[in-house]
Amino acid sequence: MMKAIRVYQYGGPEQLKLERIPIPQPSSDEVLIRVHTVGVLPYDWKYREGYFKDSRPAIFPYTPGTTFAGTVEKIGRNVHDYHIGQEVFGRSKYGTYAEFTVASREEIFPKPSTITFQEAAAIPGSAILAWLTLFRDGELREGEKVLIHGAAGGFGSIAVQLAKWKGAHVIGTSSGRNLDFLSLLGADNVIDYTSTSFENIVQDVDLVVDTVGGDTLERSWSVVKKGGKLLSLVEQPSADKIRMYGLKTVKPFTPYSPEETKIISQTISQLIADRKLRIVISKLVSLETVQEAHRISQQGHGRGRIILKVYDDD
Ligand SMILES: NC(=O)c1ccc[n+]([C@@H]2O[C@H](COP(=O)([O-])OP(=O)(O)OC[C@H]3O[C@@H](n4cnc5c(N)ncnc54)[C@H](OP(=O)(O)O)[C@@H]3O)[C@@H](O)[C@H]2O)c1
Repeated sequence: MMKAIRVYQYGGPEQLKLERIPIPQPSSDEVLIRVHTVGVLPYDWKYREGYFKDSRPAIFPYTPGTTFAGTVEKIGRNVHDYHIGQEVFGRSKYGTYAEFTVASREEIFPKPSTITFQEAAAIPGSAILAWLTLFRDGELREGEKVLIHGAAGGFGSIAVQLAKWKGAHVIGTSSGRNLDFLSLLGADNVIDYTSTSFENIVQDVDLVVDTVGGDTLERSWSVVKKGGKLLSLVEQPSADKIRMYGLKTVKPFTPYSPEETKIISQTISQLIADRKLRIVISKLVSLETVQEAHRISQQGHGRGRIILKVYDDD
């Protein structure tokens, strides 16, 4: 048996119940993982609240969490590229707020010993997506100007550093309490959204990456130069506005192949190991205190990523 969080109905953080349930068993193409750490994503509380009940309805009871870093505990008979005890990170569709989870072999990647389990847990949910948003979909190049909204958050704090590493000019928005933090991460210009309208001082950016949506997204159109791009993680930007402002069209987020993800995850691991990318951890929680993590995440003012620590060894 193992400890796991289970959710029996949509609702608030109190729906996260700690229980003992049987350890799952991997099929022939899957691997059983001992979970060490989990990246707690805003998606987790949104799913629990029922935001996706029409598009991706939950089958109750379910275990929340999609990302993990851990060790291989057991291997299906068709899996030859991993061994028991190997350190890995990845994603699982079975839920990761648990002592063990199961993942298919395409969803796991080797974790180098030069990065911690806490750092590795932020790669599958946030760092890979930041990479794909900036460099694949956003086509950001050295010397270009990027505006990142929500730059201090779990996603934004990584996006700022990756854009800077690429040699871009990085402008980040956050509240006043996070401005120094953004500068430390490498942002060239920082804007306090509570006191300054970014659209009055920013212009001709090559790329906007929006993690806020609503009014922030609407006010962003005018700051992008003709032929530039506007990407949002929270809303699909209007096709009419893309045409009206002469921006480049970006296909709605396309899934990425295991091969592509493997290369990106290796590059990101190396950047972390070389201390060129810092994974900022805002809070560590346990299975016993994970309700608190959801309460904090739900406020939408994260600084770095909340990590659920399931197995104590880092
Ligand atoms: N894997 C991912 O990270 C991922 C994937 C897909 C979608 N998303 C979506 O992207 C959003 C952000 O995710 P996250 O993990 O980065 O969340 P987070 O860690 O909670 O960070 C949110 C950030 O937004 C900032 N913020 C709030 N209002 C703002 C505004 N009006 N202008 C500029 N910044 C503002 C906050 O800064 P202050 O505290 O300074 O206000 C905070 O740092 C969520 O809606 C999430 O669902 C994330």
